[in-house]
Amino acid sequence: MKTNRDVVNKKNILCIGAGYVGGPTMAMIAAKCPDYRVTVVDINTQRIAAWNSANLPIYEPGLDELVRTVRGRNLFFSTDIDGGIRDNDIIFVSVNTPTKTFGAGAGMAADLQYWEKTARQILENSISNKVVIEKSTLPVKTALAMERILNSQPNGISFDVLSNPEFLAEGSAIHDLENPDRILIGSRETERGRSARNSIVEIYARWIPRDRIITTNIWSSELSKLVSNAFLAQRISSINAISALCEKTEADVTEVARAVGMDSRIGAKFLNASVGFGGSCFKKDILNLVYLCRFYGLEEVADYWDSVVNINAYQQERFIMNMMTAMFNTLAGKRICIFGFAFKANTGDTRESPAIFIAKRLLEEHAEVVISDPKALDNARIDLSGRAGVLDYREDPYEAAAGCHAIAVMTEWDIYRTLDYERIYREMAKPAFIFDGRNILDHAACFRIGFNVYPIGKPSLTHFES
Ligand code: UDX
Ligand code: UDX
Repeated sequence: MKTNRDVVNKKNILCIGAGYVGGPTMAMIAAKCPDYRVTVVDINTQRIAAWNSANLPIYEPGLDELVRTVRGRNLFFSTDIDGGIRDNDIIFVSVNTPTKTFGAGAGMAADLQYWEKTARQILENSISNKVVIEKSTLPVKTALAMERILNSQPNGISFDVLSNPEFLAEGSAIHDLENPDRILIGSRETERGRSARNSIVEIYARWIPRDRIITTNIWSSELSKLVSNAFLAQRISSINAISALCEKTEADVTEVARAVGMDSRIGAKFLNASVGFGGSCFKKDILNLVYLCRFYGLEEVADYWDSVVNINAYQQERFIMNMMTAMFNTLAGKRICIFGFAFKANTGDTRESPAIFIAKRLLEEHAEVVISDPKALDNARIDLSGRAGVLDYREDPYEAAAGCHAIAVMTEWDIYRTLDYERIYREMAKPAFIFDGRNILDHAACFRIGFNVYPIGKPSLTHFES
């Protein structure tokens, strides 16, 4: 048992929550800081078993190699959360904070029950001073609640709460962790707060240039994460809103995005019109921001950000209505192939994927749905379990499309760009349709083959007489 309660053991790091954020982030820290012993704990025993096996619980390019290099050396996965808390004085917390489904704030506010439970668990098992770092995305002022819980017992142990939000994007997580645009660490602006903050700066400074590690007060850090995601999502909703106007005016959204994005003040990234954004963060974090604004009586600000989510829902419904109109106002009994179920390419993650909404709507319209995806079929089966209607899952895109009336592209996987569309066309019912929800196909080439092609935000290419 430790006796010197003032000493923080800087060489041991714990992360509570072995998810998409906790697992890859800790693997990178372990790789870059071989003298630190990094332990990742989780309540989910299956998940931990998977992290300790050859089949990691998440798919992420480069993750397998990274974990293979460090696991058992200075990276360990375990279910012993209490022991982990006892033995580590730097504790990252990356448990999930889903949108509340009950009571006040249902459908908007973050559900902080796991977060609070974790804080109490840290308190109960601590026998030395701790630096507790919020990795999860949280409402502003969560650190205050965390501090109040941790300091609720006069036990002589001191807790410093920091905010260090993660900005990695799925599919490029390893690259983002290795070369982040910035690392943000927020703390109380006290001597103790700054000293705790420096212990975390030290870790990242092993591989990240100092000028990219920024420190702020703790509330700015918490808010910056929500705002970053809100701004990114806002760009997508902005271009998606314009895509609807393009479809009415014969403008081409790709050309518009290019012309607009070449203004260096605006920038070219995140201007790809699509069937809508998905992923575990954007919707959840914006709703969280909206809830906070309403809480503080800022109705206009709340409405402004709410509209980003509303446009995203509108874009998805618009996609279905476009399919319906193009296919002679009925989808009943038609077989529709969905290319891609993941919320973006290079991940098996389907959380909030627009494909879930599209598949459910197609089933409601009594269409038969065939789903194809190179990595996300297991999750697709879970997302659509219990749904009434004809549903089929085929990894092979050729098999999936055979006999179908239409293909709807939902995920920008590279494989869909290079398929033999002549072969696919031959094996489909006629007239054959393509609805490209990602604008990734060669539309002119597909049209020449015989398809009726409906991109997002561009004139459709059809063989029908007007
Ligand atoms: C989550 C949040 O969704 C995100 O907002 C935040 O920024 C980071 O944490 P992610 O890692 O993608 O992101 O979530 P998820 O893959 O669900 O992982 C969370 C893990 O925490 C799960 O493995 C879950 O079992 C674990 N957990 C949850 C605990 O260990 N203890 C709990 O009390 C609750
Ligand atoms: C996002 C943020 O990028 C990341 O910084 C944060 O830590 C977590 O949330 P992620 O959700 O993994 O990351 O993926 P991202 O690349 O941001 O894509 C989100 C969604 O937007 C995807 O469905 C993607 O296909 C869509 N998207 C993205 C578009 O529709 N158009 C674009 O131009 C860009």
